[in-house]
Amino acid sequence: MADRRVFILNGPNLNLLGKREPAVYGTATLADIEAALRAGAPAGVVLECRQTNGEGVLVDWVQEAGAAADALIVNPGAYAHTSIALRDAVAAIDPPCVEVHLSNVHARESFRRRSYLAGVAAGVVCGFGAAGYRLALDGVLGLLDNGTSRL
Ligand code: DQA
Repeated sequence: MADRRVFILNGPNLNLLGKREPAVYGTATLADIEAALRAGAPAGVVLECRQTNGEGVLVDWVQEAGAAADALIVNPGAYAHTSIALRDAVAAIDPPCVEVHLSNVHARESFRRRSYLAGVAAGVVCGFGAAGYRLALDGVLGLLDNGTSRL
């Protein structure tokens, strides 16, 4: 089987993981999370891990993933709750996208309960901390295997 390429995109403030509100987001750094994800990825799965604080950069990367990836996993940070541009970018591409949040956004402030991205995502994982990325990867690879990546 050809390699499967998965973009792992993290949005604003996720570069601060490890020291940012550890009671909410845990003590693992983003580098720790990416290393664990790479170490646990099945053979033939190539991960492209990136983080940005910029909404436009995130949109550019989603568009790039549309041409270069089989799937993408996005923790949009606060842009989940604000960015129609990010939603439109994900809606515009074919590869399935899984939205990840470390925290359970539904158990926090009410403004975190709305995600613009969720409606165009193939799936959403939240509340499992760093393990959520691995769950998202397993899930999206399963969708690719089953050929059910779009509803
Ligand atoms: C987050 C949840 C968002 O509401 C918040 O703005 C973040 C992190 C999470 O991973 O739990 O930056 O996406």
